[in-house]
This record gives sequence, structure tokens and C-alpha cells, in this order.
Amino acid sequence: MGATGATGGALVRSLAGSGVPCRALSREPQGLRARLGAAAPQVEVHAADAADPASLRAAFSGGRQLFLTMENGPRQVEFELRAIEAAVEAGIEHIVKISSPAAEPDSPVAIARGHHTIESRLRAAGVTASVLRPYAFMQNLLLLGPGVAHGGPVVGAMGQAPCNYIDCRDIGEVAAAVLTRPELAGGMYSLTGAETCSFGRLAELLGRLRGRPVRHLDLPPEQLRAQLSAERGLPGWLADHVVEIQQLAVARPETPTDTVARLLGRAPRGLEAFLTEHIDAFR
Ligand SMILES: NC(=O)c1ccc[n+]([C@@H]2O[C@H](COP(=O)([O-])OP(=O)(O)OC[C@H]3O[C@@H](n4cnc5c(N)ncnc54)[C@H](OP(=O)(O)O)[C@@H]3O)[C@@H](O)[C@H]2O)c1
Repeated sequence: MGATGATGGALVRSLAGSGVPCRALSREPQGLRARLGAAAPQVEVHAADAADPASLRAAFSGGRQLFLTMENGPRQVEFELRAIEAAVEAGIEHIVKISSPAAEPDSPVAIARGHHTIESRLRAAGVTASVLRPYAFMQNLLLLGPGVAHGGPVVGAMGQAPCNYIDCRDIGEVAAAVLTRPELAGGMYSLTGAETCSFGRLAELLGRLRGRPVRHLDLPPEQLRAQLSAERGLPGWLADHVVEIQQLAVARPETPTDTVARLLGRAPRGLEAFLTEHIDAFR
């Protein structure tokens, strides 16, 4: 699922690159087929909408394993629970779910509480359940690009708290490993890059890489929330989420895991390399 998204897209590219047949799902299958192009002939594209259970059953029919991811939103828990139910009905034996850090029943992050609910249902579903808990996606940092390019600061509410970042391409490769190496099925994997970075250091790094300084502006959490909804137009639940994950990073200082290196036999992609690759977005 989520083959047009950040992690699902990376998984499809990884599977296609090693010739593993798979079925890529989207609510817009024609657009997905066009994006995949002729380079991925063994990727079968199929329509699937979690709002329509019949489409899920049709999409899962004949499948053995499911990669389950869903964009954040008010219906995420409902959609993922429905996908698990349809997968069980279709005879799927192994589900690999994208979850998040702090997926706990009393998590301070509402979306992580939702992931806990979904993880719990998945573990009780009678299939092999693998859970990937990635930290913040490096690709999310590109959302800062337009503001920084126009001379704006890197704005946060977590001071110099150290944060883990992971490149979604590494998440896709880990998902491919968990789906194709039976000894990895059934595990819980906490995924990070090799080092943490604070927003202050991120601003310094961006300034150095683009050759023009970038400021770091640290706001009280409520002010960040107000700015995200009033100036950037984020819906309330998303503004809350950004503030909640930043407050979590302050409350629980993050440290890297060695999971990507252990599973893939190489170091994770680095933040500086990622920013260098995408520096034009910040110029
Ligand atoms: N961003 C982060 O830093 C971060 C960190 C940790 C964990 N996470 C978790 O990562 C997950 C999202 O990551 P991602 O990269 O997979 O998300 P994404 O890039 O937002 O893509 C999610 C996919 O959801 C699909 N989708 C949306 N509504 C759907 C529906 N009704 N039926 C079927 N598919 C639907 C979309 O497919 P179509 O539009 O093609 O149908 C899209 O490809 C979230 O659960 C989030 O909590 C994110």
C-alpha cells in the first residue's frame, strides 16, 4: 500500500530494482503506472481505497504479504484496521506495518497512540506481524525549503534537542529486507540515521551548504502551533502533531539505533549527504 507515498514508493523501487514481483496499490492507479514507467515491468499496479473495503479485498486477493502504510489523517486508524481485516480475509500471511516511535497507549503524541491501537490489532490478527518504527523522515525537511529559500529561519519549539532523521530510501530498503528475508519477519525495528541533529545544527548545516547563513528561531510551543495553523495553513490536528513530536524530542532525548546497519550491512544514508543532494530546494 501507499506506493505513491514516501515509504511505499521507496519500497516499490527497491523491490523492482532487485526483480522481486509485487503489486503496487493506489487510489489513482493510472497515475502510479505512469510514474513507475517501463522500468518496473514486474510491478503490477492495482486500485485500492481503504474507504472501500471491497477494493481492498480485490487488491489483496492472491497476495502473500502486505506492506501497510497510510498517510496521517483523521481516518488513519479506521483505514489501517480495515486493511488488516481485509488482508486476513484475503489469506495474507505476513504484514509489515509502518508505525512510529512512542507508539504507546498513553503516548503524548496522538498519532503515536493511534499507531499503538493499530499495532495491537495487528499482533492479535493471527498473521506474522512486523513493525517498522522510523523516526523523522529526512524528506520532511524539504517542507522547510521555500521558507528558508526566501530568507526565513528554521522554526521550531525544541531548542537544541537532538533528533533522529532517516532517509525514506533506507526505510524502503529495510521494508524490502523484512519482506524477502524470512528470518527478519515478525520483528520490531526502530529506524534512524547514524547521528542526531538539532534544529540549531540543521540551520548551520544548511547555511554552510548553500553558502548563505540560515537562522534558527526557537518559539514557545503554543506560538509554534499558532504559526503553523495561521501562517502555514496546517489543519489543527497536524499543527498539534508537529508540536507534540517536538515536545517528545525534548522530553526524551533521541539517540541513533544500529538497526539499518544491522539489517542492510551498510551505514544509513546521512543527513548532510541528503541536504547536499537537495540543497537547491533551500536556495
Ligand atoms: N513523516 C515522518 O517523519 C514519519 C515519522 C515516523 C512515522 N511516520 C509514519 O509514516 C506513515 C506515513 O508514511 P508514508 O511515507 O507511507 O506516507 P505518505 O507519503 O503520506 O503516503 C501514504 C500513502 O497513503 C495512501 N493513502 C491515503 N489515503 C488512502 C486510502 N484511503 N486508501 C489507500 N491508500 C491511501 C496514499 O496513496 P494514494 O494517494 O496513491 O492512494 C499514499 O501513497 C504515517 O503512518 C506516519 O505516522 C512518519
